[in-house]
Amino acid sequence: MFYSLTEMRGAAMSLTAAASGLVVFLLSVSVVQGQDGWRVSCSSTEICAVKGSTVEIRCSYTYPSSWNNRVNTLEKTLWLTKQKGGKHVDLNTVSEYAGRVEDLCGNNICTLRIRNLRESDSAEYRFMFKTNQATYWANPVTLSVTDLQVQVSRSGSSTLLRCLSSCSPGQTSYIWFKNREEVKEDTSSYAYFRYESADSYSCALKGYEDFPSPSVYAPKLPSVSVSPFGEIEQGSSVTLTCSSDANPAANYTWYKRNGSANLSSVKVGPRLVLSSIQSSDSGQYYCRTENLLGRRRSESISIDVKYAPKLPSVSVSPSAEIEEGSSVTLTCSSDANPAANYTWYKRNEDSPKASGQIFNITDFRAEHSGSYSCGAQNKLGRSNSTFHLIVVAWSSTMIVNIIRTTLGVLILILALLLSLWMRKKKALRSTTEAPEEIELDSDPEYENNSHTAAQTEDTEEQEDMV
Ligand SMILES: *[C@@H]1O[C@H](CO)[C@@H](O)[C@H](O)[C@H]1NC(C)=O
Ligand SMILES: *[C@@H]1O[C@H](CO)[C@@H](O)[C@H](O)[C@H]1NC(C)=O
Ligand SMILES: *[C@@H]1O[C@H](CO)[C@@H](O)[C@H](O)[C@H]1NC(C)=O
Ligand SMILES: *[C@@H]1O[C@H](CO)[C@@H](O)[C@H](O)[C@H]1NC(C)=O
Ligand SMILES: *[C@@H]1O[C@H](CO)[C@@H](O)[C@H](O)[C@H]1NC(C)=O
Repeated sequence: MFYSLTEMRGAAMSLTAAASGLVVFLLSVSVVQGQDGWRVSCSSTEICAVKGSTVEIRCSYTYPSSWNNRVNTLEKTLWLTKQKGGKHVDLNTVSEYAGRVEDLCGNNICTLRIRNLRESDSAEYRFMFKTNQATYWANPVTLSVTDLQVQVSRSGSSTLLRCLSSCSPGQTSYIWFKNREEVKEDTSSYAYFRYESADSYSCALKGYEDFPSPSVYAPKLPSVSVSPFGEIEQGSSVTLTCSSDANPAANYTWYKRNGSANLSSVKVGPRLVLSSIQSSDSGQYYCRTENLLGRRRSESISIDVKYAPKLPSVSVSPSAEIEEGSSVTLTCSSDANPAANYTWYKRNEDSPKASGQIFNITDFRAEHSGSYSCGAQNKLGRSNSTFHLIVVAWSSTMIVNIIRTTLGVLILILALLLSLWMRKKKALRSTTEAPEEIELDSDPEYENNSHTAAQTEDTEEQEDMV
């Protein structure tokens, strides 16, 4: 090849300026073939064009009016294409191009225009012309049709973007758009930016500004949805779905809130399936989405699992020992969602005794004794607890009082009996002594002796008692 890079650029720019809109000419290189007035040259040898756009390849040709001493006249011009490893075929015979190609010829210039480019149009194209005496081929033109993509990577606090295409390096220059406005042009496909949360970036090939790459941006506010819609019953299966618009695609993490604390992730991925949901799964959930450009958190979504009443618990106040004539307060509690209503029954009685969580029985009588049940009910079901209420004839305090009183009375009686017995003993002694005394009247010596004996007995008794 015999061109320099500066020539290429200069030619490319002037042609680009001349070409309007979607059309671009990249290189203008003289491809001279033959001699003696035979010549053909095309606008470029390599073209990189963006998918969906329109490309034009232009070739000009000259030939001598006479050749080998004979009149030389043009018979036809032709565009051929050759897929990799294939043969050259007339473009007009290839069905894939039908309706998309135009061949415009005039003043020894032919222009091939291909619209709505497809990646499969990437191929070698060749112009030829034929006179009554000879055939001349232009050098091949290689067209590559590229998709554009922005590749994101982080580099410290900067964001490194790369415009990915199948163009060869140096073949084209890159235009960068920030929020759809052109901010930069560079021959390098790399560009550093300081990314801010709401920005979007895209790139385009010079000359194809109307066919930019898809934009890259941080995730937009994620939306969350619950399926199935409506009330959630315990045991059912519930799916929470998070979706967030982001490019590059975001990753997803589900979190469950616990009071004011944020729990660690419960699931990685856009869908959180709570199969056989339990009341403990109730709470606030949210998702977080993240890509290399940023992250967003969704609104919280509230999950309220409804369930039938659990087995009620019954408390009896003041205590389970009910004294006849006293009042009792019965309280029934059952965990239920929605809250349960309560009904009280007594066994063998058809109609309920009461409704409401608290049941008071005043003036408890023996006939109130028996088996009771408390039923808790909400629209999802009901649950019962049975318990017994019995009148106790003697309460423990009463028994203590009775024992105390009885003991007191017993002690009193004992003391009484003792004093009675002693008095009786004294009385007995004086009656047995009396006849002796009478006898003593007749025998005073004996009387004296017996007196002293009685006295010593008395003192002995007194000492025992002390
Ligand atoms: C919620 O937080 C409290 C206190 O931080 C903890 O005791 C409880 O287990 C947590 N609940 C769940 C479901 O993790
Ligand atoms: C929980 O998350 C919210 C929102 O991300 C944040 O504002 C709050 O500080 C977090 N609370 C805790 C305790 O981490
Ligand atoms: C989500 O993507 C960000 C950025 O690409 C990455 O730092 C993070 O580790 C990813 N998180 C998960 C759970 O994959
Ligand atoms: C039941 O008795 C308690 C204590 O005497 C009283 O505070 C309450 O109001 C009563 N409840 C009903 C429903 O009668
Ligand atoms: C209790 O709730 C159930 C279901 O909601 C209802 O059918 C019933 O009538 C209620 N009973 C009372 C006493 O309110």
